[in-house]
Amino acid sequence: MNRSNIVELKNVSVIYDTLAALQDVNVEVQEGEWLAVMGPSGSGKTTMMNIIGCLDRPTRGTVIFDGEDISGASLKTLTSIRREKIGLIFQQFHLVPYLTALQNVMLAQYYHSLVDEKEALKALERVGLKDRSSHLPKELSGGEQQRVCIARALINYPKLILADEPTGNLDETNESIVVDIFKGLNAEGSTIIVVTHDREVAQRAERVVRLAHGKVVTGRHHRHHHGAHSPQDITRAKPNG
Ligand SMILES: Nc1ncnc2c1ncn2[C@@H]1O[C@H](COP(=O)(O)OP(=O)(O)OP(=O)(O)O)[C@@H](O)[C@H]1O
Ligand SMILES: [Mg+2]
Repeated sequence: MNRSNIVELKNVSVIYDTLAALQDVNVEVQEGEWLAVMGPSGSGKTTMMNIIGCLDRPTRGTVIFDGEDISGASLKTLTSIRREKIGLIFQQFHLVPYLTALQNVMLAQYYHSLVDEKEALKALERVGLKDRSSHLPKELSGGEQQRVCIARALINYPKLILADEPTGNLDETNESIVVDIFKGLNAEGSTIIVVTHDREVAQRAERVVRLAHGKVVTGRHHRHHHGAHSPQDITRAKPNG
């Protein structure tokens, strides 16, 4: 077992009735990596994120998370791993509408039973929103709401940050702000897995895994040459800058 892998999927399948949402998927993600997951709608991206994020279990195959085989773990065990080690960010913001930005971030801490306003403010500061902390979600732009979600995901200093189309609802400016936050977090050592339909977002990652019909279709070590190929050919993009 490679100790530097935060997650390993070995021949993982997720079967819904007769439909294989994932089929014999093998993926390894090293600690400190920034991975993008791409693929058409219905190709199994969210299904894979749910397995990696300890929200679901595979029908078949092995899932190693942080050195621990969690393939057959109880939901209770999965929940505690998720709370301790994983920060989740979704396309839909899932903020509580009647709580301020600060309170929304603190609520995540409540789930970890750590209601600490200072830590929550620090998380908001990391995403550049300290001065908006007392605003309600409806008083924040879409980009700002997504940054609150990122702050909420960061509150527990997770080993792994999982984001499922985090920029899907954002304009280019906000997309770029969010991707820059990921870049900063990755530079600080966080492992990041981002599902995206957006080429620009994928190109900022270190590596792209592409799914089609529930199977991985990319090789691992190809280099992407900017402008030389169609988006389908992106296999390993260099981070910008
Ligand atoms: N709970 C479920 N029950 C039955 N089928 C499901 C379930 N969840 C997902 N599926 C099916 O599994 C396949 C993969 O779904 P998934 O959500 O992983 O796709 P995706 O790549 O995330 O797509 P999108 O880009 O649209 O978000 C789809 O055909 C979907 O209909
Ligand atoms: Mg999806």
